[in-house]
Amino acid sequence: MQASEIRTRFLKFFEREGHKILPSSSLVPADDPTLLFTNAGMVQFKRVFLGNEESPSPTRRATTAQKCVRAGGKHNDLEQVGHTARHHTFFEMLGNFSFGDYFKRDATGFAWRFVTDELGLAPENLRVTVFHEDAEARALWKEIAGLGDDRIFGLGEKDNFWQMGDTGPCGPCTEIYVDLARVAKDWSAPAGATGSWTDPSKVDFDTEAFVEGAEAGRFVEIWNLVFMQFDRQHDGTLAPLPRPSVDTGAGLERIAAVMQGVSNNFDTDLFSPLLAAVDEQLGAVPLTDEREVIAAKRVIADHARALAFLLADGVYPSNEGRGYVLRRILRRGVRYAWLLGRREPTLTRVVEKVIDTMHDVYPELAQRRKEIATTTRAEEERFL
Ligand code: GLY
Repeated sequence: MQASEIRTRFLKFFEREGHKILPSSSLVPADDPTLLFTNAGMVQFKRVFLGNEESPSPTRRATTAQKCVRAGGKHNDLEQVGHTARHHTFFEMLGNFSFGDYFKRDATGFAWRFVTDELGLAPENLRVTVFHEDAEARALWKEIAGLGDDRIFGLGEKDNFWQMGDTGPCGPCTEIYVDLARVAKDWSAPAGATGSWTDPSKVDFDTEAFVEGAEAGRFVEIWNLVFMQFDRQHDGTLAPLPRPSVDTGAGLERIAAVMQGVSNNFDTDLFSPLLAAVDEQLGAVPLTDEREVIAAKRVIADHARALAFLLADGVYPSNEGRGYVLRRILRRGVRYAWLLGRREPTLTRVVEKVIDTMHDVYPELAQRRKEIATTTRAEEERFL
């Protein structure tokens, strides 16, 4: 299933369940000095969760495909990008939101139905985690999804308590994981790894083996259901929100990998045209360490997406704040192209490919096509 179909199916599914489809907000959060970039679907609804703004829909339900950047501030993935299967500077997050309407029961039911009915993922290839103190979430997974305790792992705050920043709305979460050893045709345990999770035929795991397998990429989290209940204060204390709410974060790139039967997000249709554009620009690359070459190409493809979308949202390269992060992303891309032998602008063409492949969903890309390309080229030339 192509990524565009997953995006559409998600939004339509939740629309049928009474959610209003809303556009993605800008990558630059409106009036929020606590945050460098929009880093999750809930950011545009922060004030609604806090009770300072009315619900944007009369049903108190909304759904979005949100542009996100995690390259600065609390959620910063920049240095990992290119070297792992799932880190990106820019990504899309699918979300369904309840603003004091439904809570844990319906949220769990929607998630399970979407994943098993709409996506058609086999329940035996799924596992869930819950916040270890959240007995209600565990009971709901048993009742609604028919999962046994052996498929539900209770984890602590680090894994199952979500917050958008150091302060602001937060709460315990529950996540759905897919076993890539069963669904990805190219999955294999990393070289040298040991432990029961490395055996693809094994399906029963204790918590320790599951966590190790998740960290090593056998189990991929595709759905994070946050039960928004608190507002984290500057002194770290948790003030209750006026109404318990729901915030889902489901990474489109990860779901696309699962649905396309591949272990690495860069092997999905979201990246293949960009990687082809990178190859076109690079021509023959001198044979060095193949893994380094692959990583460098992925860096360029990833960073071109962040550049296109940040420039479309009015961020410009500069020496401070958001503009500085943009400049760092661009320079990191140029550096990796340099390592592959390029001595002239490379990112610009890839940025244009991002516009070509995504402007139908994000029209701001087409509206600012010229400025995006011109700024990228000028900045590349300057750095070279
Ligand atoms: N807001 C939920 C997430 O980003 O996973």
